[in-house]
Amino acid sequence: MPDVPFGYDQPVTIRTATERDAAALAELARRTFHDTFAATNNPHDMALYLAQAYGVEQQAREIADPDITTLLVESDGGLVAYAQLRNDQVPACVTDPGAMELWRFYVDARWHGRGIAQRLMESVRDEARRRGARTLWLGVWERNARAQAFYKKCGFTHAGDHIFLFGTDPQTDLVMITSL
Ligand SMILES: CC(C)(COP(=O)(O)OP(=O)(O)OC[C@H]1O[C@@H](n2cnc3c(N)ncnc32)[C@H](O)[C@@H]1OP(=O)(O)O)[C@@H](O)C(=O)NCCC(=O)NCCS
Repeated sequence: MPDVPFGYDQPVTIRTATERDAAALAELARRTFHDTFAATNNPHDMALYLAQAYGVEQQAREIADPDITTLLVESDGGLVAYAQLRNDQVPACVTDPGAMELWRFYVDARWHGRGIAQRLMESVRDEARRRGARTLWLGVWERNARAQAFYKKCGFTHAGDHIFLFGTDPQTDLVMITSL
């Protein structure tokens, strides 16, 4: 059966994850990462990274970690997007030492271009402010043009670069920042 197209105004709910969401989050996170990067990366590095980053226990640990906030977008009882914020080391090119990292931000491919990402970004900004941050930073792969265009549209600017180890492959990420 062909996919039914989703409407732009399909009702969605955005909420904080709980431990009961670990399995569904692990599935969404693994799938969206693979969908985004498999075609442009070595399968060996992809397999290494997926094994290290995703799994029910791993996502359960992240949900329980007080330094990480996991936001979920649900529609019709299923997860369609998620974002994670964390307090971690801030790169040298980010001058605000209290900046919060937008660590992960992924929307299911069927929902791209339908406004979900903008709504999730508003919740991310609210949550980061609630946690006392005044700056948000993120790393985005130099070859991920769609995500860079989206972040620019949301007001992020390029502050520098850093290396992200993808499996065995050291890749260059653009570091982008925005004020809250
Ligand atoms: C990044 C992401 C959250 C953005 O959400 P989205 O719904 O796709 O965002 P939008 O469609 O509103 O904006 C994307 C912009 O990129 C543009 N774009 C689309 N494909 C592009 C491409 N190949 N190169 C450059 N820009 C592109 C779109 O035209 C749009 O800009 P516009 O509104 O000015 O026309 C979503 O695409 C996603 O989840 N991607 C996969 C996961 C990912 O890359 N996450 C970020 C990791 S750092």
